[in-house]
Amino acid sequence: MTSVTAFAKIRKLTPHDAGQIFVVLETARDASKVPIGPKWSYQQLEAECREFGLVAERQHEIQAFILYRDTGAAWEISFLATSPDAQGQGLMTTLLEHLKRDRPQNRPIWLEVHAGNHKARAIYEKAGFTATGERPKYYSDGGAAVLYNYG
Ligand SMILES: CC(C)(COP(=O)(O)OP(=O)(O)OC[C@H]1O[C@@H](n2cnc3c(N)ncnc32)[C@H](O)[C@@H]1OP(=O)(O)O)[C@@H](O)C(=O)NCCC(=O)NCCS
Repeated sequence: MTSVTAFAKIRKLTPHDAGQIFVVLETARDASKVPIGPKWSYQQLEAECREFGLVAERQHEIQAFILYRDTGAAWEISFLATSPDAQGQGLMTTLLEHLKRDRPQNRPIWLEVHAGNHKARAIYEKAGFTATGERPKYYSDGGAAVLYNYG
């Protein structure tokens, strides 16, 4: 599945994308006011890039991505981020729309996010995700994780 929006080309992840995704993830982490999840080594990220994912790219440069896993019951998003330079342009909203539409076997989508990550939570809620629970003191700063479900 590949499509070109007004913003970017949206396509499936390949293992070759690991290098660019690592840069997007780490620059987005540095720019974020709240913790966004575990700090993975490059090797851990490379292994995750053999799972499932979608990327948004412009001129062969990845600017946003969603990585997700097969839990059997659902697709679980392990990480998503947009490069700080490309945030606020609708890339993550577009990627989530593609994931909802094209997810294999139409299973639910799960994710978790820092309770204080208001920007990400607003995007998930606008995309139709519902908060289903909370994990207290989950992140490195003591913040809770909010669990979201779609579908
Ligand atoms: C959260 C994140 C993925 C959003 O990506 P993005 O490509 O900028 O998102 P979009 O451009 O599709 O959506 C922007 C929306 O957020 C809204 N927004 C922008 N800043 C906001 C803020 N501080 N609070 C609430 N909403 C905000 C915009 O108004 C826009 O909504 P609209 O479509 O109604 O106009 C990106 O900021 C990011 O990578 N953050 C760091 C990583 C992260 O937090 N990952 C999630 C946890 S794993």
